[in-house]
Amino acid sequence: MNMSFSLSRETDRSFDRISSYLETRLADVIANDPRGWQIFVQRLRAHFPGLFELYFNLYGSHYDFFFHLEDLLTNLAQAWFERPVELRELDSTRETNPLWFQSNQMLGGVIYVDLFAENLEGVKAKIPYFRELGLTYLHLMPLFKMPKGENDGGYAVSSYRDVQPPLGTMEQLASLARELREAGISLVMDLVFNHTSDEHLWAEKARAGQSDFMEMYRIFPDRTEPNAYERTLREIFPEEHRGAFSPFQNDGWVWTTFHKYQWDLNYANPAVFNRMAEEMLFLANQGVEVIRLDAVAFIWKQMGTNCENLPQAHTLIRAFNAVARISAPALLFKSEAIVHPDEVARYIDPAECQLSYNPLLMALLWNSLATRQVNLLSQALAARFNIHPQTAWVNYVRCHDDIGWTFSDEDAARLGINGTDHRHFLNEFYRGRFPGSFARGLPFQENVKTGDCRISGTCASLAGLEKALREEGPNEVDLAIRRILLIHGIIMTAGGIPLLYLGDEIAALNDYGYLNDPHKMHDSRWVHRLRMDWEKFKMRIDPDGVEGRVYQGMQKLIAVRKMNEAFCGNELTIVPTENEHVLCFMRAYNDKRAVVFANFSEKVQTVPSRILEQFSIYNKEQQIGRSNLPSSGKMTIEPLDFLVFA
Ligand code: GLC
Ligand code: GLC
Repeated sequence: MNMSFSLSRETDRSFDRISSYLETRLADVIANDPRGWQIFVQRLRAHFPGLFELYFNLYGSHYDFFFHLEDLLTNLAQAWFERPVELRELDSTRETNPLWFQSNQMLGGVIYVDLFAENLEGVKAKIPYFRELGLTYLHLMPLFKMPKGENDGGYAVSSYRDVQPPLGTMEQLASLARELREAGISLVMDLVFNHTSDEHLWAEKARAGQSDFMEMYRIFPDRTEPNAYERTLREIFPEEHRGAFSPFQNDGWVWTTFHKYQWDLNYANPAVFNRMAEEMLFLANQGVEVIRLDAVAFIWKQMGTNCENLPQAHTLIRAFNAVARISAPALLFKSEAIVHPDEVARYIDPAECQLSYNPLLMALLWNSLATRQVNLLSQALAARFNIHPQTAWVNYVRCHDDIGWTFSDEDAARLGINGTDHRHFLNEFYRGRFPGSFARGLPFQENVKTGDCRISGTCASLAGLEKALREEGPNEVDLAIRRILLIHGIIMTAGGIPLLYLGDEIAALNDYGYLNDPHKMHDSRWVHRLRMDWEKFKMRIDPDGVEGRVYQGMQKLIAVRKMNEAFCGNELTIVPTENEHVLCFMRAYNDKRAVVFANFSEKVQTVPSRILEQFSIYNKEQQIGRSNLPSSGKMTIEPLDFLVFA
C-alpha cells in the first residue's frame, strides 16, 4: 500500500469537499446572496491552500481534523455573509490599495474609553478633536466585559461580544466605528487571544468540570507538569505571582502567564482556534480595521522551552491571517511582541502581522535621552529597522504599558556596552535615582530573583517636566519640552505609523492617585493611565503655557510629516554624523527625499556641513528646528533640537 501523503492532492480534495459541504449546509443563505457566495468562493479558492497547510501543520494529527476544519470553514462563510455591505466595500477598496497604511498621512492615537471620555458616546463626541490632531487610526483599549476590581485594564476579557456596560453597547461600538471611518479614522482594537479572564463562560464551565471546556485551557491535576515547565520559563508578572501557574479549584493548577485571573488558552486544541477565529471575525464585522494581537509571544507552549516565540505561534498567527483574508480582507494585524528584537521582527510579514509595535525604537529613544548618546539608536536603525516593504512599524514613545529595555545584548556588546549593567543604569536613571537624572518614573515588576525591572511613567514625567515644574526652573522646563518634541519628531519621521498615547500631546504628568485604589495600587502602570483633564486640554491654545508649547510643537511635527511624501513607506538610511550626540537619517520615497537631524544633548553641537551637503536637497527648505544652516564648513545644532530638510 502506498502510504505517501500529498498535501496538495489532499488540499484540492478538501477544497472540493468543503465547498460542496458549505453549499448544502448554507443553501438558504446562498440563495439570498448569490453574489456574496461568488466572492467568498473566489477568496476561499485563493487562500484555502495556505490556510489548509497551516491548519494541518497545527492540527493534522488530530483524529477529528476534518471535523474541525469543516467547523472552521462554516464559521468563515457565516461571518462573511454577516459582513455589512459598507465593510465589504472597504474590503474591495483595501484590496486595490493594500499599502494604504504606509501613507505619510497616517497618524495613530490610543485611549482608554473611560479615562478619555467616560463612554463610547463620549468618544464619538471627541471626533472633532481627533480630526484637529490629524488622527487616522484610533486604538481603543479593551472595553469588553471584564471582572470587577482587578482586570488588568480590560486585558482580562470575560466576553468578546459584550461591551462592559458603563462604557456602552456593541451597537454603539459599531456606530462609533462607522463615524470614525467617515472621518477617515480606522478603528483599532485588541484581540486578547492568549488568555481569557477566569470569569469567561468557558472558564466557568471548566471550573464546573466540563471536560470540553477544561481542554480549552491548560489545567493540571498537580504540580508535576507545572514544575517541569517552570524549569525553563521566564516570570512575566513576578510581583503578582511567582512562576506561570495559579491554583485551579482546590487541588489543580492552571496556566496563567500574566495575572492569576488571566487563564492562558490552549491552542493545541483546534476548538480554541476555531472559537477565537469566530470572535475575531465578529469584531471585524463591527468595523474594527486593525486588530492588535495581544501578547503574541506566549500563545504556544512546549515543554523544555521558554514557551515564547515558538514556531507554532507564527503558524497560528498566519492561520488567523488566512482566516481574515477569506472573510474580512480589510482587516490588518498588529503584533504586540515586546521581546528580543530578532523575535519582534519574525512576526512582521504580509502573511502574518502587517504592522508591529517598534519596542526597540521606543526603548532606544529613552536610552538616548538618558545617555545623550546615539550609538545604540543609530546601530538599531541601521541594522534592524528595515522590514518587508509591504509592512509597517508602529512607532511610539509611550503606551499604556511599562518600558522594557528590550535591546539586544549582542548589539550592545558590539559597542562595548554590557547589557545587564546598562539596563540597571537605565532603571536607576528613570526611577530618578541616578545622580543628575531628570526623570520621575516608577519601577514595574521588579524581580527580586533576577534584579530585572521595567519602568512606568508618562512621557512628560520621564522626559523631565515633572521634576522641572516642581523643583527647578524655566530653563529645565524648556529642556523637558524639547526632549518631548525631539523623540516625537523621530517617530513622526522614521517610517511607519506614529502612535500617540493621547495625553502626551499636552504633556500630561504622572498621576499618583492610583496608590489609593486597592485594585490598582500594586500595578505602577496606572501612574501613566490618566483620567483626561479637559481643562488642561483647553490650555493647548495658549502658546506660553506648557500644554500649549508641547501641543503646538507636536502640531508642527505632524504637519511636517503630512506635508512631505518622503515620510511614506519605511525606507530609512542612517547617515553617520561624526558626533556622538547627533542622529541623522535620510528618508526616501519614490523621488522624494528628506534628511532629519536630532541632537540628544543639552549642549549646542556641530556637525560637518558636508553631511547635509551630500544630499541634493541641501539647499531646500529647512522645515523645522531653530538651528543654523551650514556655514563655514560647520552646521550648528541647538540643544535637543530636531531638524528636517526636505
Ligand atoms: C499585553 C498588554 C498588557 C497586559 C498583557 C496581558 O502585554 O499590553 O497591558 O498586561 O498583555 O494581557
Ligand atoms: C511583558 C510582555 C509584554 C507585555 C508586558 C506588559 O513584558 O512580554 O508583552 O506588554 O509584559 O507589561
